[in-house]
Amino acid sequence: MKVRAIMGALCAAGLMCGAAAAQAAEQVEVLHWWTSGGESKAIGVLKDDLQKQGYVWKDFAVAGGAGAAAMTALKTQVIAGNAPSAAQIKGPLIQDWASQGVLVNIDSAATDWKKELPPEIDKIMHADGHYVAAPFSVHRVNWLYINKAALDKAGGKVPTTWAEFFTVADKMKAAGIQPIAMGGQPWQDLTLWEDVVLSQGADFYKKALVDLDQKTLTSPQMAQVFDTVRKIQGYFDSGRTGRDWNLATAMVINGKAGMQFMGDWAKGEFANAGKKSGSDYICAAVPGTEKAYTFNVDSFVFFQQKGQSAATPGQLALAKTIMSPGFQEQFSLYKGSIPVRLGVSMAKFDDCAKKSYADEQAAIKAGGYVPSLAHGMAQADATAGAISDVVTKFMNSQEDTKTAVEALAKAAKTK
Ligand code: GAL
Repeated sequence: MKVRAIMGALCAAGLMCGAAAAQAAEQVEVLHWWTSGGESKAIGVLKDDLQKQGYVWKDFAVAGGAGAAAMTALKTQVIAGNAPSAAQIKGPLIQDWASQGVLVNIDSAATDWKKELPPEIDKIMHADGHYVAAPFSVHRVNWLYINKAALDKAGGKVPTTWAEFFTVADKMKAAGIQPIAMGGQPWQDLTLWEDVVLSQGADFYKKALVDLDQKTLTSPQMAQVFDTVRKIQGYFDSGRTGRDWNLATAMVINGKAGMQFMGDWAKGEFANAGKKSGSDYICAAVPGTEKAYTFNVDSFVFFQQKGQSAATPGQLALAKTIMSPGFQEQFSLYKGSIPVRLGVSMAKFDDCAKKSYADEQAAIKAGGYVPSLAHGMAQADATAGAISDVVTKFMNSQEDTKTAVEALAKAAKTK
């Protein structure tokens, strides 16, 4: 009786009611790789929201951009029978994990999602007709970030073609500024390379990296892609080996370098450093890609927990929160992305996010909306990994273009 009375009082005070009180202690373990300044702020919003709902957040963060290390840690955990409640998984990998029979569906948290999500993205969140993943936001990958003061000092203008890009890079060099800040991990190499593929046109990108068309992969245009990448490399500094993406972003933030090719999670770093788009830095589409948009949609999948046959209340709360309009807005403001949920107001967003949104809509209409290969949206792991190996080998050796193109065509056949 006494306990009931206490619970009743708590409930009346709006603190804990019935089922919520019983769930209060559920621990939700979340595996992700969001550890940079902007990324941690963004995932912190989810943690706070969940804790407000009475759940215990157990952070399982595995550092390493684009998640290679996180994915290795996840496999180990699942094999050991200790799957986390939720993990950051995206694109075709969602289907892979679902086919292992280790995920739970979150249909009951997703009753209105069909009308709240773009159809292309809604489809990715499904396996066997059920929702198994919750999407966070849309990142555009094909961005070039430019330090405004460096551009002004060099007397350059924002490049829209590769010829203009090399002119700006030369001017920066002449002005004593390191033209490009580049990190040194395979996924960063692949991010730049896919940007250059996209600059040959969205159709070329689709044929090469989505359809894996052999004729396109071995075309003279593809050779040109490798040649352009080689030329861009001439503007890197010598210290990029092993460098994390956010350290390269920091070089642009503090004026040590002029430009960086990176998806708009980099904008989360600029925002976190108190920098303003337009006056401190410029976000521009990668030269030659203004009308196209490589998308990268982060999501969480939910693993079946020991002794449970369905999603737990904590997992459902997590899924619901991720797709709630308030969270969608605040997360993207910190993360540099735009909300994936349709109809969320863009009023509080900066010019770069507004441009991302407008360019996204235009690209969808014009057929220029394509999945990022470097960020796990275009191909299954094995294929993407084989292509990534070819690109990284090329970029970290003196390999000639002909050899790289042949290796690429072969890698694209990897299943
Ligand atoms: C991407 C991920 C982004 C960002 C980036 C760098 O793959 O989708 O959200 O975190 O890696 O870590």
